Amino acid sequence: MDEFASLQRSIERLVRIKCSNYKEDYIKRRILSRMRLTNTADFETYHKYLLANPQEADLLRNALTINVTKFFRDPEVFEVIRREILPELARRRESIRIWCAGCATGEEPYSLAILAHELMTLHKNVTVTIYATDIDTVVLQKAMAGVYDRKALENVDEKRLRKHFIGHDDGTFEVRPHIKSLVKFREHDLMSGVPIARYLDAVTCRNVTIYFTEKQKNDLTHLFYSALAVDGFYIMGKTEYVAREVEHLFVSYNVMQKILRRAA
Ligand SMILES: C[S@@+](CC[C@H](N)C(=O)[O-])C[C@H]1O[C@@H](n2cnc3c(N)ncnc32)[C@H](O)[C@@H]1O
Repeated sequence: MDEFASLQRSIERLVRIKCSNYKEDYIKRRILSRMRLTNTADFETYHKYLLANPQEADLLRNALTINVTKFFRDPEVFEVIRREILPELARRRESIRIWCAGCATGEEPYSLAILAHELMTLHKNVTVTIYATDIDTVVLQKAMAGVYDRKALENVDEKRLRKHFIGHDDGTFEVRPHIKSLVKFREHDLMSGVPIARYLDAVTCRNVTIYFTEKQKNDLTHLFYSALAVDGFYIMGKTEYVAREVEHLFVSYNVMQKILRRAA
């Protein structure tokens, strides 16, 4: 077995990430970034370092699952969710369930929760639950705490900021309980093949699949098909797409904003 293959086996065991699910190039680049930071010259030396330093597994896991995000990232998408999707779902049923898959540190599910709260103020009979999942337990801890610096909030207007956040003396802002209570965080691997629920009204999975192999992307499309109710919405990231082999599972809803609907 070559050095890289043997390192991958240790990564699967210690970091609990299946390297073969990701493009090899991507895995190598992320490992190289850790090698630079740990002053290890080659895969073999880095492998020894990983085995000898228990904290390195967490750091590598973070590097492999980069968690860049912010509130209302791509505001136009959230505008479509606010103006069209949530009102339509509210006409359909009283209990709306949305899965935010690959939620990172929580900015995306809390953005959805803010919109859901605004909807629930207009439609008193409607309740919205947002299931927010990620493979990375470190980011989930931060998500549950719900404390952010100003930078993450640059797309949040003053009115929403005052209504839905508590400003702390150190300059950070904490999501208020009425928004936190709408979001249920849970660890979940999108490559497990198991949906967190079925008959869901919408799934958002944004900026997560860019490093997945074509096969993993297609499996994920099947997973979301099985998780959604007929006509349920699938909201992707701006650079993501559904491959030709699986496009029959969904019907386009908004091409520009990468929003689809589950086919019957
Ligand atoms: C760039 S963030 C996207 C955050 C948010 N969805 C957004 O668009 O701003 C990508 C997230 O996907 C998560 N992720 C990567 N692979 C995953 C997997 N197999 N299962 C679940 N989450 C995964 C990472 O841990 C990371 O938090």
